[in-house]
Formats: sequence, structure tokens, C-alpha cells
Amino acid sequence: MPESITITDNRTGKAVEIPITDGGVSSDAWRSLLPGLWFYDSGLTTTAMCESSITYLDGDEGILRYRGYPIEQLAEESTYLEVAYLLLKGELPNKEQYDAWSREVTHHTFIHENVRKRFLEGFHYDAHPMGMLVSAVAALSTFYLDAKDIYNAESREKQIVRLIAKMPTLAAAAHRFSVGMPFVYPDNELPFAANFLSMMWKVAEPRYEANPALTKAIDVLFILHADHEQNCSTTAMRTAGSAHADPYSSAAAACAALYGPRHGGANEAVVRMLTEIGSIDNVDAFIQGVKEGRGRLQGFGHRVYKNYDPRARIIKKVAYDVFEVTGKNPLLDIALKLEDAALKDDYFVSRKLYPNVDFYSGLIYQAMGFPVDMFPVLFAIPRISGWLAHWSELLDQDLKIVRPRQLYTGEGERKYVSIDQR
Ligand code: SDX
Repeated sequence: MPESITITDNRTGKAVEIPITDGGVSSDAWRSLLPGLWFYDSGLTTTAMCESSITYLDGDEGILRYRGYPIEQLAEESTYLEVAYLLLKGELPNKEQYDAWSREVTHHTFIHENVRKRFLEGFHYDAHPMGMLVSAVAALSTFYLDAKDIYNAESREKQIVRLIAKMPTLAAAAHRFSVGMPFVYPDNELPFAANFLSMMWKVAEPRYEANPALTKAIDVLFILHADHEQNCSTTAMRTAGSAHADPYSSAAAACAALYGPRHGGANEAVVRMLTEIGSIDNVDAFIQGVKEGRGRLQGFGHRVYKNYDPRARIIKKVAYDVFEVTGKNPLLDIALKLEDAALKDDYFVSRKLYPNVDFYSGLIYQAMGFPVDMFPVLFAIPRISGWLAHWSELLDQDLKIVRPRQLYTGEGERKYVSIDQR
């Protein structure tokens, strides 16, 4: 059987055979056969917008690999900074490469004083930290004017390092501002995750000593959230990047997409949902409400995974390690009961709705003391590496500007009527 499909235009009887390559069929072949005819695919559910070698997902099998390495192995063996290197460079670093990379990132954690003093501190006292982060990432584009030189390899590398390094600093600064605590400067003696926790929680002690189990948990969570193929925010990054916007402006667009409760805002929505349910006695009634269309089971379902999200499995294990230190999050029992009830209920099973990465992550963050509105910010910190890997890849592929077509369903031509005639 040939690895191809044939499209026939029944209006003309013309047909074209199109080879199947890398799991897809190129539009180049049918564009000439079907001029002016568009394939309608709302939400791009079955459309590949690019070729990529960064992350592989198999939604039916629940497989996730970064540059071919299974996420389970990376979560067990690697560190977030090493995974960021892997996503961006395509290979795991050797010791010398890792040390140089780690030194580079560590020495770019500071943000310009104006970003903190004049920009972040200019927000309203109750500003949502994710809104602050979206704005601050965009603002960085005004501090690094060389970032526009996107085809200069040295400049591109410098902006990539700056963004990876500064996301935790910006995130912690937004949090400290929102709780009225003084800004904590990065402590470059500390490794990445411990430095972030220091900027979040340091009070008056000379050096913040993060609990190793919590530092490890944050590092694993950062690994799990680093990339995820063509998700909504990565698509936003690629779309803005395809216009040759600088990496800071493109990352701000990605951050804004991640802020949505259907995407990166889901773990915040999960904790609010569990809090609203309040007790395991209310789980069955809540499930019934979801089945009757009154709201969604936050943290469940996924555009790609029609099986258990492999990240959710790992996060569930991390949760128990964290609760050993912090004490069990009382919402855990409700989450476990919800998961158990949903996985036995045909409404969810028939729709292939399983726990996704967000179902348990919020419980961990809450147990570690992060306010709920910091959850999407915690997602953005590591996802910057994935966004930048895709941004760099699209520039190297010299892709066209993203400009899809539409099916016009509006009015036909009509004549303007002056206001006194309407
Ligand atoms: C992330 O893309 C990525 O990779 C994202 C991400 C990443 O790492 O970047 O994995 C991170 O965003 C994970 C998803 C976090 N979002 C949530 O947990 C929010 C709750 N989930 C949904 O809103 C929903 O499942 C989506 C948005 C995640 C996926 O939506 P789809 O693929 O568009 O699915 P759908 O809306 O077409 O749903 C199919 C059916 C519908 O029912 P019917 O109309 O067929 O009767 O399933 C139902 C939906 O109503 N459904 C749900 C549901 N999710 C889908 N019903 C109840 N609860 C849910 N959570």
C-alpha cells in the first residue's frame, strides 16, 4: 500500500496523490489543485503548523520525550538547567558544557534596577503576579535593544540565557511586591531552584537555606513543565516569532496565552475547584454537576493526551515527597476521590479525560506556601526554555510568517447608510 493519500476535486474530476511524510501531508501539493479552498480546522486540532525535532508526544500511549529522552528518565536523573540545555541545543551537555552553561545562566539572574523599582513597583498593590510577569517580560525588550538582531547567533544566545536566568527573578519579584515584602536579590552561590526559593522566601537570615526535598521537587516540576510541543503558548511564541518580533516580545505573547485558565491557569483553577468542593462528601455531587454541563473538572482532559498525562503520574509521586516535609495538603483527599470517581465514570472515560499536568501540581505548590495566583507564574518560569527552543528552531527553519486563512461567513457587500437614515 503506498504511503500516500489522494485528494480529488469532484467539481473538476482532477486528483492529486500526496505522499505521507513524517506523519503528515504537505499543503504544497493540494494548493494548486484547490486554489482558494481552505481546510477548516478550528483550534488547529488536526493541523501541523511546523516541523519540529524538540519534543515528541504520543497522546494515546501517554508518551512524552524531550529530544528523544523519556520524561520519566529526565525527571529522575536530570536537572532543569540541563534539560533547558537539551531542549535548546538538542543534546545533553558534557560536564564542561554544563558548567559553562550553568555559569552563564547564574550570572544573568539580575534584572535592571529600573525593571524592579520603576516598573514592577509601579503596579497596583493587588496586581496578579502573572499579569506583572507578562508585562515585565515584554518590558525587557526595551532594555536589550540588541535582541532585535535575531539572526546574530551571539545575540540570540545572549537573549536566551538572559530570559532563562531572569524568569525566576521576575517571578519572585512579582510575588514579593504583591505581599509587601522587600525584593530579594539573586544569590549566585545557589543552584537555580534554590536561588529561586531564596528570592521567594528569604526574610532576614543572612542566607536562605532551602529544604533539599523542596528544592528537588521544584527542579523536577520545572523539568516537567519545560516544554510540551505545540501547546497554545508555544504556538503564540511561534506566531509572534514568525513575524520576527524580538524574543522578549514573543515570550510576552506566550506568557499571555499561558495565563489562560484553559492552559497554564489550570492548576490555579484546580485548587480553587477543590477548595470549592470542600469535602470528599461533596465529590459525587460535583462530578454530577460537571456531567450536567455545570463547569469542568479542572486539571482533567487534554487536547493531545487521551491517556494519563505522564507528567501527572510523576507529579503525584513528587507530591508525597513534598508532603513529607510540609505536611499533607488537606485538598489531596478530595483530589484523589475526584480522580478515582472520574476514572470510573463513563462520561470521562468515553471522552478520554484523564488527569493532566495541572491536576496535582497546584496541591504541591500550595503545600510549599506559594499563593494560588503564583501558579501560572511557576509554569512560565521553566516553559521559557521550551518557548525559546521553538523560537530558535523556527528562525533556523526560516519559516514563513504565520498567517492562516478563514472561512468568511459575514455580510456580502452593502452600501453605507448615513446615521440619520438608520
Ligand atoms: C495544559 O497543549 C498542551 O500541551 C497544554 C499543556 C502544556 O504542557 O502546555 O499540557 C498544559 O494546558 C493542560 C490542560 C490544562 N487545562 C485544564 O485542565 C482545563 C480543563 N480541561 C479542559 O478545558 C480541556 O480538556 C482542554 C482545554 C484541556 C482540552 O480541550 P479540548 O481538546 O478542546 O477538548 P474539548 O473541549 O473538545 O472536550 C472534548 C469533550 C467535550 O465534551 P462534548 O462536547 O464532547 O460533550 O470533553 C469535554 C468537553 O466538554 N471536556 C471536559 C473537560 N475537558 C473536556 N468535560 C469536563 N471536564 C473537563 N476538564
